[in-house]
Amino acid sequence: MRWRIASIPRATARWDLSLCCSLHKAKTHLAAAIAISLLEKKKSVVFGTVTPFLGQIRKTFDDDREHEWDVMRRFSWCDLLIIDDLGKEKVSDWVQQTVYEIINNRYVNNKSLVITTNMSLGDIRERYQEHGDAIVSRILEMCRGVRLDGPDWRKKRVLGNA
Ligand SMILES: Nc1ncnc2c1ncn2[C@@H]1O[C@H](COP(=O)(O)OP(=O)(O)OP(=O)(O)O)[C@@H](O)[C@H]1O
Ligand SMILES: [Mg+2]
Repeated sequence: MRWRIASIPRATARWDLSLCCSLHKAKTHLAAAIAISLLEKKKSVVFGTVTPFLGQIRKTFDDDREHEWDVMRRFSWCDLLIIDDLGKEKVSDWVQQTVYEIINNRYVNNKSLVITTNMSLGDIRERYQEHGDAIVSRILEMCRGVRLDGPDWRKKRVLGNA
């Protein structure tokens, strides 16, 4: 499994992926394997879910030590940004706008992006309303979809089958 993931960057020279599948099929696990393989190559990786990402931006609103653009720059310029579980977050206007900015910055700067989600792109489009089309169209252009099948590893661990 690790070999397959580690081979993706070599095969494509970029790491853009969107890992879509039904629930609990190792998306985060595989995204973490991609992150580790790049960190071992001394590449910079930012890995997380939308809510804490946006929390980092929000924190700057009351903190003079860091400007929101400093945080945005980290999301924009790291070698690889991994957004885990896109679509799980509560979507306000500000969330829509900011997630769009994050994805668009990857797009205009030609930087790699890995997204994991349990949702279809149609669901994401709907969820992100005004910005849904623009977000999905960038994901479609930047990312190669990978649908994961296989066991629910959590169930398998407990029950011995999935
Ligand atoms: N190849 C594997 N071998 C053994 N355990 C695995 C493997 N892949 C994933 N797991 C384990 O299965 C569990 C579920 O994997 P993971 O959290 O990556 O799934 P997910 O698709 O992100 O789930 P969710 O939709 O709930 O976010 C984790 O505990 C993970 O470590
Ligand atoms: Mg997960």
